[in-house]
Amino acid sequence: MEKEFLFPQIKGFVHGSDYNPDQWLDRPDILEEDIRLMKKAGMNSVTLGVFSWAAYEPSEGEFHFEWMKEIVERLYRNGIYTVLSTPSGARPAWLDAAYPEAMRVDARGLRDRHGNRHNHCMTSPKFREKVAAVDRRLAECLGSQPGVILYHISNELSGECFCPLCVRKFQKYLADKFDNDIGKLNKAWWTAFWSHSYSSFDQIEPPFANGESSIMGLTLEWRRFTTWNMNDFMKFEREVLRSVTPDVPVTSNFMRLFGGLDYRKMAPELDVISWDNYPTFHNDTESFADTVSETSFQHALMRSLKRGRPFMMMESAPGLVNWQAVNKLKRPGVHRLACLQAVACGSDSVQYFQWRKSRGCAEQFHGAVVDHLGTDDTRIFREVAQVGEALKKLAPVAGTLVNARAALLFDWDNRWAIWDVRALAADTKKYEETCLDFYRAFLRLGVDMDVVGSDEDLGRYDLVVAPMLYMLQPGTASRLRDFVERGGQLLATYFTGYVDSDQLCWLGGFPGDGLSELFGLISEEIDSYYPSDRNGIRLKDGSVWEVRDYAEILRVKDAEVLGVYTEDFYRGTPALTCKAFGRGKAYYAAARSSAADMTELFEKMLREADIPVKRMPPNVEYHVRSGGGETYEFYFNCADLPTVVPGVFGTDPETGVRLEGRLALPGYGAAVVKI
Ligand code: GAL
Repeated sequence: MEKEFLFPQIKGFVHGSDYNPDQWLDRPDILEEDIRLMKKAGMNSVTLGVFSWAAYEPSEGEFHFEWMKEIVERLYRNGIYTVLSTPSGARPAWLDAAYPEAMRVDARGLRDRHGNRHNHCMTSPKFREKVAAVDRRLAECLGSQPGVILYHISNELSGECFCPLCVRKFQKYLADKFDNDIGKLNKAWWTAFWSHSYSSFDQIEPPFANGESSIMGLTLEWRRFTTWNMNDFMKFEREVLRSVTPDVPVTSNFMRLFGGLDYRKMAPELDVISWDNYPTFHNDTESFADTVSETSFQHALMRSLKRGRPFMMMESAPGLVNWQAVNKLKRPGVHRLACLQAVACGSDSVQYFQWRKSRGCAEQFHGAVVDHLGTDDTRIFREVAQVGEALKKLAPVAGTLVNARAALLFDWDNRWAIWDVRALAADTKKYEETCLDFYRAFLRLGVDMDVVGSDEDLGRYDLVVAPMLYMLQPGTASRLRDFVERGGQLLATYFTGYVDSDQLCWLGGFPGDGLSELFGLISEEIDSYYPSDRNGIRLKDGSVWEVRDYAEILRVKDAEVLGVYTEDFYRGTPALTCKAFGRGKAYYAAARSSAADMTELFEKMLREADIPVKRMPPNVEYHVRSGGGETYEFYFNCADLPTVVPGVFGTDPETGVRLEGRLALPGYGAAVVKI
């Protein structure tokens, strides 16, 4: 497999940060100094113009781009490329004063007042008209500069709007979806319940805070519409840019497991996937290693949104952030660890928010490469410069990929349906945590997993884990059957296959849509536990997995029973099963156990899938990238004490040192090994 570079101009890593020169236009000395310091920090890119609308267009129709053009050119002359953002993340005051409809309406029906950011009505034709005007000029004046390598659409798109225009657009979206047939919608949403049938599309309101909340299909469709409308807005901005400069690729920065938008629907519209990474390092609710592996899960999700290409870490904090509950400093070494972890998981960029701390307003104390002190003589600057050095030495790694053979199914629709379902227990549904728990258990076995949607082709994988797949989209069940039939190892859990994509229950037994045949069982009841309730699953070898939160009572037809409940009135009944199907195997875990308890089962599945296991010492995270005939291993010591990883052979590309079976890592150490 050849290496796959994001930008032809950069055959290595992108190292850069958000840069806001518009805050310093009256300080040419600082702008000059910025370039010197950027070079010293080993940076080769900046993200410009994220919130520059007021500087580009200080009053309606009056445009100024020359200042930015000069900056882009000067950066380029100094070897620094530009990721050019559209300025639609925040609106100038003149716009809201002239066109209040650009301001969002919340779920109580209240219109926002001017201020803040990321809070526009994405439907408003006036807002779009003004965005198009500034974007077009931006592309005309700056888009074909040789320094510009990528467009960055808006910033962290998010949120929903309940204004009359959005309500009408929602109604139109529904009419299109249900072929203008209100009867179809009523059926799909089961509105005969509580006499909630509609007789026309214009009676349908989104789920206002004081409105309809009992129709699961409506709530779900509103969430889908919000993604659809945001995607429509993002595509609209993209098309304005493309109409002027069709060859400049586009991205839009995503946010971790953000629940408000289905990123899988947006990803195909972008050339490059990028996301903003702000872990709560050193918190007091989990181990440092758990914070790191959670980040790895998020990287894996982003990577999987566009397989076969590296992604970009668009933002991360060089020091601390200013918006977490506790804004703790990253301990020495953690910056390098976090940056190389992004690389290990498939990112070809390490970028920061922000280059220089602003003097005033909401982010004046947010970490930056350059502090208010204004010099390079700081711990943070040195750590950033060291990462810059490391990335230069690691340049050959760029363009390689994480080629995972195992996948975890994680779906926004399923997630939303689980959030909304009136069932189970209020505080322990924990869909995301359950997915993360499985991901972590495989990571500890040295196995990288992709994170994929239930509507994706599973053909490239040999092992799939599908936790709590409550909703089955059309075609999901048959894809899972095909996957197992051709030799795949599949694990599903309690709460699988209860509803279809409209949230209507499958009739004739869960898991529905033919999956009960694949697993050889029917789940007849599900028991929800109080937090102190416990059960167990006794396996054939006598070992017991602890059960908490949920336990299904099964009716097994033709699956092998691998474990039974140890307690309660369903004691002795099946809790873990396996059915051989075609050339593969379909496992079903009917209760919630910790994935750590389930490790032996995972090892067995991995053996059968012929995926190598590489058990790591405690707190060590491991990833592999390969391509162009080269393979690189990454090791992270996610603890503050030194450790040694046995069985490591190869060369450290940063130091040239040969490793003969033993890798010593300092506390928070990160190392790359070419094998
Ligand atoms: C991001 C955002 C940046 C900055 C940063 C602070 O979410 O895109 O503009 O606000 O957070 O951590």
